[in-house]
Amino acid sequence: MEQLKTSGGVLGKALKPEAPQVQSVVSLTTEQIRQLESSWMPGNIPYMTNYVEGIRRKEKLKPFLDLLADHAVVEIGPGGHPLNNFYQCGSYTGVQPHPCFVPNIGGEKYVLSDGLSYLRALSDNSAVVVSFGVLDEDVLNYGFSNSHLSERYMQELAREIRRVAYPFAIVVGNNANKYMGVPDEVPAEITQGGVYVFK
Ligand SMILES: C[S@@+](CC[C@H](N)C(=O)[O-])C[C@H]1O[C@@H](n2cnc3c(N)ncnc32)[C@H](O)[C@@H]1O
Repeated sequence: MEQLKTSGGVLGKALKPEAPQVQSVVSLTTEQIRQLESSWMPGNIPYMTNYVEGIRRKEKLKPFLDLLADHAVVEIGPGGHPLNNFYQCGSYTGVQPHPCFVPNIGGEKYVLSDGLSYLRALSDNSAVVVSFGVLDEDVLNYGFSNSHLSERYMQELAREIRRVAYPFAIVVGNNANKYMGVPDEVPAEITQGGVYVFK
């Protein structure tokens, strides 16, 4: 695989290791994923944090955000703030399990699906994956008690993000490090998640 070149130089790791939490997960069935549907935070909550606004001024993210224009980008959980409203993407697919506020989707592809089911159908190393506020136990356990199933969902979602993402993923969420592992680039003031570089 090629090395990832940014304005800051060449970045990358020799291997694409598994996330720490996911080595022995038996895949969830479609029926188990369906049981989880009601637990995912609805997309139409207007008070939702705008994570994208929060990352815009992070210097360490800038070279990666600039690179989005050269890649197919899949965003898991865009809610009301799809990344392509802020940054040019080579192509853009927003994956959202419930209908939500998308003020200006601009004719871009916007899929009603949960992130795990969507990623399962994608090839290895096929897109930049971005996700803000989804690898987060509060978001994926919204009013839900079957935390064991939800934990497995998050483990498998992280594994799929790592499998599909190339040459990098940007994942920010309150439990990102637990499921994705330690990021390669940690923007200032972001305590969970960051940029995961794969090559
Ligand atoms: C905290 S909001 C963040 C919204 C947006 N990314 C932002 O930064 O403003 C989390 C979003 O993830 C969506 N979501 C929840 N569960 C999901 C799942 N399993 N797959 C994909 N998206 C999900 C929610 O509907 C919601 O829109």
